[in-house]
Amino acid sequence: MSDFLSVRDLVREYPQGETPLPVLRGINLDVREGEFLVIVGSSGAGKSTLLHIMGLLDTPTSGAVLFGDRNLTTLSEREQSRLRNTLFGFVFQFFHLLPDFTALENVLVPAMVGVGPLAWARRRKDAAERARSLLSQVGLSARLTHRPGQLSGGERQRVAICRALINTPRVLFLDEPTGNLDSRTGQEIQELIEGLNRRDRQTIVMVTHSDTAVKRASRVVRIHDGQILKA
Ligand SMILES: Nc1ncnc2c1ncn2[C@@H]1O[C@H](COP(=O)(O)OP(=O)(O)O)[C@@H](O)[C@H]1O
Ligand SMILES: [Mg+2]
Repeated sequence: MSDFLSVRDLVREYPQGETPLPVLRGINLDVREGEFLVIVGSSGAGKSTLLHIMGLLDTPTSGAVLFGDRNLTTLSEREQSRLRNTLFGFVFQFFHLLPDFTALENVLVPAMVGVGPLAWARRRKDAAERARSLLSQVGLSARLTHRPGQLSGGERQRVAICRALINTPRVLFLDEPTGNLDSRTGQEIQELIEGLNRRDRQTIVMVTHSDTAVKRASRVVRIHDGQILKA
């Protein structure tokens, strides 16, 4: 048994006529606390599917996601949502920011989720303080009230990273976070992500095609056709 996040015998199939399409075919993986784990593999290999299942954004056909001695797969949908929002942070290739919200408001969204109006009234000030501090750490102090449409791609991704960190997640998942950025901006975001791991000991699981990320990772896992290739 692992004492952190792990997956056991994960299978994910998509319905497809008579014979289901297998996308993950028996994945076993332990994430170690504090590591910078990079997942690579060609397009369609199953990387995003694996990340989504590990982070409780998707459900496996069979197999388990464990955190410590808890099997997260068997929890109720409600309990899974709560854990997803508090244990895990997500950063996607296409940012997924809310267009009508400011940078500051976007970062605050996960802090508000599942919190009643009275509790939010009490917590709001501290949460906004933390959101400002995160945005300031990524150089966006002067962009707090900008909306995503008024920000560059790199700035949007910085906002998305702050949003993923607002609830101090145990694991930060990133799915091709530099895939939609030019190479220089991508490099800056890559350095920011590395800093989170090195300075703050943030556990990171990242899908990427970036050679730099592969060089800097604590460990690289390659997925091919829904299975982990042995090194
Ligand atoms: N909702 C879906 N329905 C059917 N097939 C899907 C769905 N989502 C993904 N797939 C298939 O699963 C495979 C793996 O997808 P994905 O995990 O996104 O790969 P990767 O992130 O490695 O590019 C692909 O062949 C893709 O077409
Ligand atoms: Mg993908």
